Amino acid sequence: MKIAISGKGGVGKTTILALLAHHLKSRFARILVIDADPSPHMAQALGIEHPERITAIAEMRELLSERAGKTEGSPFYNLNPEIDDLPERFMQERDGIKLMVLGAIPTGNSGCACAENTVLKRLLTKLMLGKDQAVLLDMEAGVEHLGRGTIAGVDHLLIVVLPSAASVRTALKIRQLAREVGIPRMSLVGNGIQTPEDAAFIESQLGESLIASFPDSQEIRGAERRGLPLATVVGAMSRPLRDMEAALLPA
Ligand SMILES: Nc1ncnc2c1ncn2[C@@H]1O[C@H](COP(=O)(O)OP(=O)(O)O)[C@@H](O)[C@H]1O
Ligand SMILES: [Mg+2]
Repeated sequence: MKIAISGKGGVGKTTILALLAHHLKSRFARILVIDADPSPHMAQALGIEHPERITAIAEMRELLSERAGKTEGSPFYNLNPEIDDLPERFMQERDGIKLMVLGAIPTGNSGCACAENTVLKRLLTKLMLGKDQAVLLDMEAGVEHLGRGTIAGVDHLLIVVLPSAASVRTALKIRQLAREVGIPRMSLVGNGIQTPEDAAFIESQLGESLIASFPDSQEIRGAERRGLPLATVVGAMSRPLRDMEAALLPA
């Protein structure tokens, strides 16, 4: 299963995806997190100590190119690779979760990360997953990736929404683009939900129920301040995490 998370900057995408990765370990034997956000927050959230040792996916072009299969003697033989085919240098692992980073290809023209996005799109569409494997994609803030169809290969898009008008506006835009791209499933996840009115505001504005509501959490704040991996607060968030699991993986 391939799950991506999106939403306005700072709504809690990285936080919720890291929590979800830990929570889903009971359902999947292999979990691969892809950090497509240029900030290094996901590595910290997962407690990966040396993210700088990860070779960026952006350098995986050969592996995913159509001609790769014909290159004699190349390790990049597989047109539709499985997670285990991806060379170790592209990832670091902690607590059973593997992290890959999108990184940057210096293209000479700033502004468009087109080369990276092409590689990400190929990886998402070509990577073959067994039933016991999940890929979780943490996206950059905003809707850029959707606009270019980068995440057309995902099965389920999560949109994180705070109970604010600005966050709802971004969610509306993302949902529209995701529909145009044809992502099979989409769900809204509330963050910073303190009262029933908070949830009701989002649900009425978007005309759709939240699959889970994360409260504003001292545990999350404390972990972030002390630089602790979010594995330490999974227990405190078990209610919304179970709700998410039920919506993502109906029994
Ligand atoms: N439910 C929450 N309770 C308290 N703090 C949170 C919560 N969700 C996110 N945060 C904090 O808000 C900040 C932004 O979260 P982050 O996950 O990095 O957002 P995004 O990835 O969407 O930019 C971080 O400092 C994070 O620790
Ligand atoms: Mg983030």
